[in-house]
Parts: sequence; C-alpha cells; structure tokens
Amino acid sequence: MVKPLKIMIAANYFKTLDPVNKNAFSIFKAYKSKSNTFIETGCHFGGSLTHAINGGYKNLYSCDINKVRVDHCLSELSSKCDVLRIDHSSSLDFFKKLLPIIDTDATFWLDAHDEGGGVPTFDELALIKELFADKASTIIIDDIPLYFNNTIPELIAKIKEINKDYNIRMEYIHSNKSNYILVASTKSREQMAKFSINKKINS
Ligand SMILES: C[S@@+](CC[C@H](N)C(=O)[O-])C[C@H]1O[C@@H](n2cnc3c(N)ncnc32)[C@H](O)[C@@H]1O
Repeated sequence: MVKPLKIMIAANYFKTLDPVNKNAFSIFKAYKSKSNTFIETGCHFGGSLTHAINGGYKNLYSCDINKVRVDHCLSELSSKCDVLRIDHSSSLDFFKKLLPIIDTDATFWLDAHDEGGGVPTFDELALIKELFADKASTIIIDDIPLYFNNTIPELIAKIKEINKDYNIRMEYIHSNKSNYILVASTKSREQMAKFSINKKINS
C-alpha cells in the first residue's frame, strides 16, 4: 500500500522538495490561473494539491475513485485554502458536475489513471471543450510517455479542438527524461520557454 505523503504548507516549501517535485511545483506556480483556481483529476494522497496550495492557488477542485484518498486529502487540506471540493467519483462524473459551474479561468492537472479507473484523459478533454466556459485555461497532463506514447498527435489534436491557439510544450520533470508532462497554454511560445524547466535539465 502507498503511504500518504506528509502534507506541508510552508514558506520554505520549495527547498524541502526533491528535484522531480521541484519541477512539478515550478510548473504549477508558473501557470497559476488569474483566479487561483486549480482543477485536478485523481487526487491520490494530495501531493499535487499540496504543491498547488504552496504555489498560491486558493480554489481547489479534485476527485478520486478511491474514497480513503479523498477523505485523507479533505481532512488534511480543507483548512489550508479558501475552497476545497474533492468528489469521490470518476473524473468524468466529476467534470460533468463541476465544469458548468466554474465561471473563471483555471489551471487543469489531468492525472487520473489506472487502479481500476482506466485512462479517461481524452474524454476529460472532450468535457472541457463541451462544458467549461473559459477556452484559454492552461491544461497540464501527467505521465505522457506512460499513457500516450503512441497517441501524442491525437492528444494534441484533441486539445486544439478546445482552442486552436493553444501552444504545446513537453516539460521533463525527471532529469533523465524518463517521464514528462504536456503543458497546453494560450501564453506565447516565448513566455512558455521562460517558464520551462527543461533548460535546467539540459544545461
Ligand atoms: C497518479 S495518481 C494521482 C496523483 C496525484 N494527482 C498527485 O500528483 O499527487 C492517480 C489517481 O487517479 C485515481 N483514478 C484512477 N482512475 C480514475 C478515474 N477514472 N477517475 C478519478 N480518479 C481516478 C487513482 O485512484 C489514483 O489515486
């Protein structure tokens, strides 16, 4: 069984992280939505929610098919932000309920997969297109080589159905490039390059 991570909200949070988590945290912080809203699928034991809160997000929404994990995150993090809603449900049911009622921008972290829940990312993107009003919100997808190695062009095409002006970057959060995340943003390519963690890895 995976042990719950120690949840920590601290001014020196960045310094406490290992390199992989430093990279993930840096990306969440760089792409923080104007409304400080973070929408995740798959909360697990709250590692990414903790990054988001430490990075300045105030309104957090997530879900998981595992109730123990949902309850753990709610009890550990509810007092640490303004809004925390975590549904015990599949990401698709969660998106059907949540997306129509959010009228701000958001930063999406699509990270629900496996453990009986499949890989619902393509359907999550379809629901963002259909139900989420803001078409310029950043969308970040985890574990690209693990789940999308053969479907990266289709994944990008699906994102561009939401907004053809999205720019796409792969960011290597593991220094040996064994894993990477996809960032889709309506920021300029130049701005995205400034936010990149890859330059630290390549140098
Ligand atoms: C990789 S973990 C998420 C890690 C978490 N986002 C973090 O960074 O700390 C994936 C989680 O997604 C959940 N999950 C799998 N399929 C799902 C689905 N279809 N809907 C919602 N949650 C799902 C699993 O129970 C697991 O806790």
